[in-house]
Amino acid sequence: VNELMKQKNGFSGQLGFVFAAAGSAVGVGNLWRFPYLAAKDGGGLFLIIYLILVFTVGFTLLTTDIAIGRKTGKSAIYAYQEMKKKWKFLGILTFFVPVLIMTYYAVIGGWILKYITIYLTGSGKEAVESNCFTNFISSPSSVWFGLIFMFLTALIVYNGVEKGIERVSKFIMPILLLMVIGIAIFSLTLKHPLEDGTVRTGLQGLKVYLTPDVKGLTVTRFLQISLDAMSQLFFSLSVSMGIMITYGSYVKKDVNLNKSISQIELMDTGVALLAGVMIIPAVYVFSGLDGMSAGPGLMFISLPNVFYSMGLAGRLIGLMFFILTAFAALTSCISVLESITANCMELFHAERKKVTSILTVIYLAATAIIAMGYSTFYVEVQLPSGSTGQLLDIMDYISNSFLMPFIALLSSILIGWIVKPSWIAAEMELNGETFRRKKLYNVMIRYIMPVIMFILFLQSTGLLNK
Ligand code: PHE
Repeated sequence: VNELMKQKNGFSGQLGFVFAAAGSAVGVGNLWRFPYLAAKDGGGLFLIIYLILVFTVGFTLLTTDIAIGRKTGKSAIYAYQEMKKKWKFLGILTFFVPVLIMTYYAVIGGWILKYITIYLTGSGKEAVESNCFTNFISSPSSVWFGLIFMFLTALIVYNGVEKGIERVSKFIMPILLLMVIGIAIFSLTLKHPLEDGTVRTGLQGLKVYLTPDVKGLTVTRFLQISLDAMSQLFFSLSVSMGIMITYGSYVKKDVNLNKSISQIELMDTGVALLAGVMIIPAVYVFSGLDGMSAGPGLMFISLPNVFYSMGLAGRLIGLMFFILTAFAALTSCISVLESITANCMELFHAERKKVTSILTVIYLAATAIIAMGYSTFYVEVQLPSGSTGQLLDIMDYISNSFLMPFIALLSSILIGWIVKPSWIAAEMELNGETFRRKKLYNVMIRYIMPVIMFILFLQSTGLLNK
């Protein structure tokens, strides 16, 4: 009966699964963090390292999560328990990652909604007025935008896997892909004269993006770039936080996992690469690369300036950009809430609608609190990684920088040495499929992942910076 229920509540087929999983993977990380890192870390050099990592580390982590999910048919907590009773604690730890991420993801979604309204109701001038972004997030009214985003997410999850998540992802993902491609092409056609009479073009910007900058490259810098690429990859694929385990648990046994995993990798990486084509040339043409500052600064300050410099077209492009970003954030946000929901449904033997309703109340409150981390509940904390941050950054640090590498480290040891890679391979070879990168998988999960994850974990504690 249990098995039947899973089948009924899962994805309708491969396409639905791939779009939903890619929807989770493609998020603000692809759109703002990837281009920023590429610009900072030597352009093509970063791209090469990232691509190598996608097909080795990324492939290993994604395969592990999805295979665990489909094989056990459960979410993180019970999936780990089923693999090895004593390792249930790792499932619980994994469960905490989305629990923490959910407190702040809708806050970021709210910021994006605000910028959509700016471009809908005006020329985008408001967005370039001094301190627009800082003033907005530090005003208590910004909370409403986060609440709306949270509510939207909850509504989709409330409707279930096929009728909610799959339907929305199948609608959003193709549109998102088209928009990214469209803006990327537009970005390449840009031209802008400088004061000294020379003209900067989008194609020159593309060259800056793609050319490996190896001038003055040292071993330390190379390692730093690799670590940047690694943590980006992690975040980008939504792995080691139970999300892909939950989504994997909804996949029917006759779906080709090998193909699905390749398609998810390809979509996530494709959108990241295209986001670079979309953003780097545009920023380069209008402001040199000074505008490529980290995180929110790029998205909510530099880009609006670029859009404004484009005149009328900029308003349209700005609107499109923030709509596609909202789409990307929404499909990621629903995967976070779904993972929490699925774990709770199993934990409390409760039905979806009830669980989602309770979680909605909790997370509306959490979203409000984190959003007010820039006003009423303002704190400034020194994080072990070196930077300072507010409530949102604290949650982000614990979940993404600290817990994820730690979970990946322990999972690799569990799968590599205790449960054994053949346990995963059996799921990948179901229906007589060939597990295409099997040898690579075995070596990665047993030897390479533990080392890499340990280094990444050390880095997050700040020990490597000293
Ligand atoms: N993968 C998403 C991105 O690239 C981020 C994300 C992290 C989504 C955690 C869900 C959970 O932006």
